[in-house]
Amino acid sequence: MSAPRIVTLDGPAGVGKTTLARRVAEALGLAYLDTGAMFRATALALGPGARELPGAGLRARLEGLAFGLEGRGAASALRLNGRPVGEEIRTEQVGMLASDVATLPEVREFLKAAQRAVGRATALVAEGRDMGTVVFPEAAHKFFLDAAPEIRARRRCEQLRALGAPADLDAVTAQIRARDHQDRTRAVAPLRPAEDALVIDTGPLDIDGVFAAIMAALGRS
Ligand code: C5P
Repeated sequence: MSAPRIVTLDGPAGVGKTTLARRVAEALGLAYLDTGAMFRATALALGPGARELPGAGLRARLEGLAFGLEGRGAASALRLNGRPVGEEIRTEQVGMLASDVATLPEVREFLKAAQRAVGRATALVAEGRDMGTVVFPEAAHKFFLDAAPEIRARRRCEQLRALGAPADLDAVTAQIRARDHQDRTRAVAPLRPAEDALVIDTGPLDIDGVFAAIMAALGRS
């Protein structure tokens, strides 16, 4: 069976999208596009004053950002202006800053065009919030992963502790709820499943279980 051209994987913060998208891309031999990383890198590049900029000023700043994707599967690497996008974007503070700039229509339009350009150049697994609804509505394979905020917060705390970082379950749950609320209620491209997406409740499953469900739906089990 030939590999699909575009697979979309959407869902809220902390649901396991990044790990799964990378694994599915690796299994199918496709590139992997982490669009949350694009919002995070954009938020860092623009800085905290982005929301105060007038539309034309904001568009001019965005024109200075050039994203590219190299490699395939687990080796897929996002670049911004020729430099690899690294671990500096992975803090929850940058996640919230990304969620802030993600409410701005200018930023969404700019990144949608950049994401579609990557999708035209490369077959891929695209992971984010609006891949199935807005950016690649014509994709033949769409997945939406979900789990209760408490479950996602617990998983995130386990990851942080495994890395030796302190993690407070109540604080992480509050951060996840705040970002969920902002992502689900924004006017432009709010987080929601596409009508033709397969919704997977990851609550009762581990990563292997979700991976198996996705591969089965793709006819690869
Ligand atoms: O997935 P991740 O946590 O890295 O995304 C950071 C933020 O970027 C999200 O909370 C969301 O506001 C925004 N985002 C988005 N649309 C996407 C991907 C991410 O609005 N396709």
